Amino acid sequence: MPDSQQSARPNSPIAGVIGWPIAHSRSPRLHGHWLQRYGINGHYIPVPVMPEHLAEVLRAMPRMGFVGANVTIPHKESVLALADVVTDRAALIGAANTLIFRPDGKIHADNTDGYGFIANIRQNAPGWIPDLGPAAVIGAGGAARAAVASLLETGVTELRITNRTRIRAEQIRAEFGAKVVVYDWAQAGNMLEGAVTVVNATSMGMEGKPALRIPLDALAPGTLVTDLVYAPLMTPFLEEAQARGCEIVDGLGMLLHQATPGFERWFGHRPEVDDELRRIVLA
Ligand code: ATR
Repeated sequence: MPDSQQSARPNSPIAGVIGWPIAHSRSPRLHGHWLQRYGINGHYIPVPVMPEHLAEVLRAMPRMGFVGANVTIPHKESVLALADVVTDRAALIGAANTLIFRPDGKIHADNTDGYGFIANIRQNAPGWIPDLGPAAVIGAGGAARAAVASLLETGVTELRITNRTRIRAEQIRAEFGAKVVVYDWAQAGNMLEGAVTVVNATSMGMEGKPALRIPLDALAPGTLVTDLVYAPLMTPFLEEAQARGCEIVDGLGMLLHQATPGFERWFGHRPEVDDELRRIVLA
């Protein structure tokens, strides 16, 4: 391979997050905390990248000393076409959130959102047995796809899904297979009957947006209910589920856990997700 294709491998590795806009991202605070805590001589910076500059920036980053990057809106789908290697789970979800710039110059694209989703539930609800019964996912956007992929990987035999725009749920069924059962949005309450796991993967309940309003009467006490929205931490949906005796897990841990595989690959240390990290990211 010609020298010009090889990336610089600095003693002080740099990683970052690319998006447009990027100022709101909590990733620099999260990774910055880990770098400091583990005494790692590295850097993690926000990199604003306009969509029309994405390909050019991705080519330049390894040569500037970047060992990898997180990817956020609006680049999560478009990086797949620019990567040399795409993991199966990133291909299945149709988006990547973690890039590794390999020493041979190749760009490796992965999606750790599903991993983060499961790791968050396992950490906060250790008794959860996902394959004991159906899972119900509300929403069919990018975040829902990650939840669906990872739930199916845990061995869930029936994955129910509903979405305001039904065709997006039908698309997920077409891609993920017959274990996926689509419910009409008007019947959303019915799909909670007998569910072991219930996920809000819509943006409803987020600060500044109306609450997710679906009838929760069919929700049995003890059901694991989680929300991918983490601002606020306690969404009206989680509040109502908790009042019904469900075990609830907020969405912040998904953001924290999805970051751990990237950090480990770039900086060589498996970081921990704990209460201190939660406080720092929320501050
Ligand atoms: P993300 O990648 O974060 O999942 P997205 O792809 O924009 O973002 O998906 C947002 C999800 O929230 C979708 O399921 C969306 O439903 P539609 O596919 O019908 O748009 C859902 N959503 C957003 N606003 C909604 C609303 N007012 N009522 C119901 N669902 C809503």
